[in-house]
Amino acid sequence: MSQTPIELAKKKAGYAAVDEFVKDGMVLGIGSGSTVVYAVKRLIERVKNENLKVICIPTSFQSIQLIVDGGLTLGDLSRHPEIDVDIDGADEVDDKLHLIKGGGGCQVQEKIVASVSKQLVIIADYRKDSKSLGEKWKKGVPIEVVPMAYVPIINKIKKMGGKPTLRMAKNKAGPIISDNGNFIIDADFGIIQDPITLNEKLTMMTGVVETGLFTNMAIKAFFGQADGTITSREK
Ligand code: A5P
Repeated sequence: MSQTPIELAKKKAGYAAVDEFVKDGMVLGIGSGSTVVYAVKRLIERVKNENLKVICIPTSFQSIQLIVDGGLTLGDLSRHPEIDVDIDGADEVDDKLHLIKGGGGCQVQEKIVASVSKQLVIIADYRKDSKSLGEKWKKGVPIEVVPMAYVPIINKIKKMGGKPTLRMAKNKAGPIISDNGNFIIDADFGIIQDPITLNEKLTMMTGVVETGLFTNMAIKAFFGQADGTITSREK
């Protein structure tokens, strides 16, 4: 079966990031989501073909599986607290490389890994490229919360002018439970003019573990296009 334009775009972005940034001996952050699957495929090829020695630090249960199933070397932050390059997807990337992440519910571990990485490189298809956050990603900012705090936090977000919803599970009654045992609230703030301040306000709320707003973290984003070409944006 032939690849859809979106799958082709994801593949091109994933391959380009691995080819430009991964070098022998590196400690790598391995992001989560459907685009990262292509980056891991390319990494597996390069490790085999070039006999690269790299250590892979996961950002989710999914990413542990990708690393292990691909025969790559799995590491953790206890042994490797500093990462050379972290390659991850995003739900939206604005013109300053601020991001919305967490569509797959992995933003806490993703942000921890990104925060200790020398370089965070984003891979995405053309649908994620925008001027301001909230233009393209309409599901809201993912916010992971300690379960007992979800109602007070929902009320606080409403007072701020946001439209929060508790993310519900599919094929299970009740809310989604994150890899860390928490709930996820998706809060729609419309077009986000100042993601830095919004992120600060949200993370100040007691019971918020972390948000999917990644501000001033990424150094480069690759956007695969429907025709198989690639555009990029860097700091
Ligand atoms: C996981 O929680 C997310 O942050 C993903 O990195 C993001 O949703 C991108 O996923 P896709 O590559 O599947 O679009």
